Order: sequence, then C-alpha cells, then structure tokens
Amino acid sequence: MLIRPATEADIQPICDLVNGFADQNLMLHRTPEQVRRALGDFLVAEEDGRVMGCGYIAYLGPDLVELRSLAVQPALHGRGVGGKIVDALVEMARRRGLRQICALTLAPQFFQRQGFRVVDRWAISPKIWSECVYCPKFHVCDEVAVLKELGDDGKD
Ligand SMILES: CC(C)(COP(=O)(O)OP(=O)(O)OC[C@H]1O[C@@H](n2cnc3c(N)ncnc32)[C@H](O)[C@@H]1OP(=O)(O)O)[C@@H](O)C(=O)NCCC(=O)NCCS
Repeated sequence: MLIRPATEADIQPICDLVNGFADQNLMLHRTPEQVRRALGDFLVAEEDGRVMGCGYIAYLGPDLVELRSLAVQPALHGRGVGGKIVDALVEMARRRGLRQICALTLAPQFFQRQGFRVVDRWAISPKIWSECVYCPKFHVCDEVAVLKELGDDGKD
C-alpha cells in the first residue's frame, strides 16, 4: 500500500469513493472541481494502481487545518489503511508548519486511536464560523470535534 500525493488522474476515483459514503450520509459529497482545487492537499492510498483510500487537509487559519474526505474502500476496512492516511496527513500538516489538525467526525473513537482528543466544537471555532453556521444541521449536529496538537520538535 502506497500513500502518495494525489494527481489529476485520481480526481474521479476520489469522487467515486467519497460520494459512495456520502450517499449513506457518512460524509459530505465532493465534486471533481472541489477535488481539483484541493488536489495539492490530497493524499491517496494506492494498491495495484487503484485508489483504495483518500483524505486531505483544508486550511482554516494560519495554524489550523481540518482533515476532510477521509475514506477507505469498504473491502479494506479494518486493515490500518485509514490510520496510515491520517498519519501521513498529520505529517504533511506538521511539515507545513501547522500547529493543530482537527476533524468533525461521526467516528471519534477512530481518531482517538490516532492521537486526537475530543474537544468542544468551539475549540475549532474558525470551522464553526466559516461553515457550520450555514449548515441546516447546525443546531442538531451529531458530529464530534477532535483535535491534535502538532509539536515543533516532531513530537505530538
Ligand atoms: C473511518 C475509516 C476511514 C477508517 O478506515 P480503516 O482503514 O477501516 O481504519 P483502520 O483500519 O486504520 O482502523 C480501523 C479502526 O477504526 C474503527 N472505526 C472505523 N470506523 C469507525 C466508526 N465509524 N466509528 C468508530 N470506530 C470506527 C474500527 O472499528 C477499527 O477499530 P478496531 O481495529 O478496534 O476494530 C473507514 O471506516 C471509512 O472509510 N469509513 C467511511 C467513511 C467515513 O466515515 N469517513 C470518516 C469521516 S471523518
């Protein structure tokens, strides 16, 4: 399993993967244009030339990024691919000098195993003010905010 930066050729496979889960209300839909705009911030997991997983980081502020569109092909669930993608995105954020990485998720236990902690959603207020307040589910949101601090010295 290779974790690598996404390329143009990955755009449609990423959309197919993410939107399959989005149809089940597990995550947000992404259009090819949205993926293209974020391509430099996307990583994919590739095996035998196929996209088996993906995820990207979106800038919410000078120090904070959000991990988005994390998805793994159903047949590979539970084999550590999601964890490897998260690790690689955390490393990418750290290399870029970010101080915090967060997510809003229905799977907080998965993120806790990756070293994130559950926080009050106002701890990631740039996300709330820029997007959540416009969401029709804002007042009945069932997603949990998780956050990981990125140390200067390579440690968390
Ligand atoms: C969440 C997801 C990316 C994890 O990928 P993965 O490759 O299965 O992850 P790993 O193998 O590294 O870790 C699996 C562990 O995470 C746990 N986990 C996975 N999804 C979970 C969920 N929705 N809630 C709680 N725990 C979950 C598994 O139970 C497993 O724990 P176990 O080993 O103790 O059984 C994958 O399940 C997925 O694509 N889900 C659908 C899309 C989605 O919900 N994305 C998250 C949006 S934030």
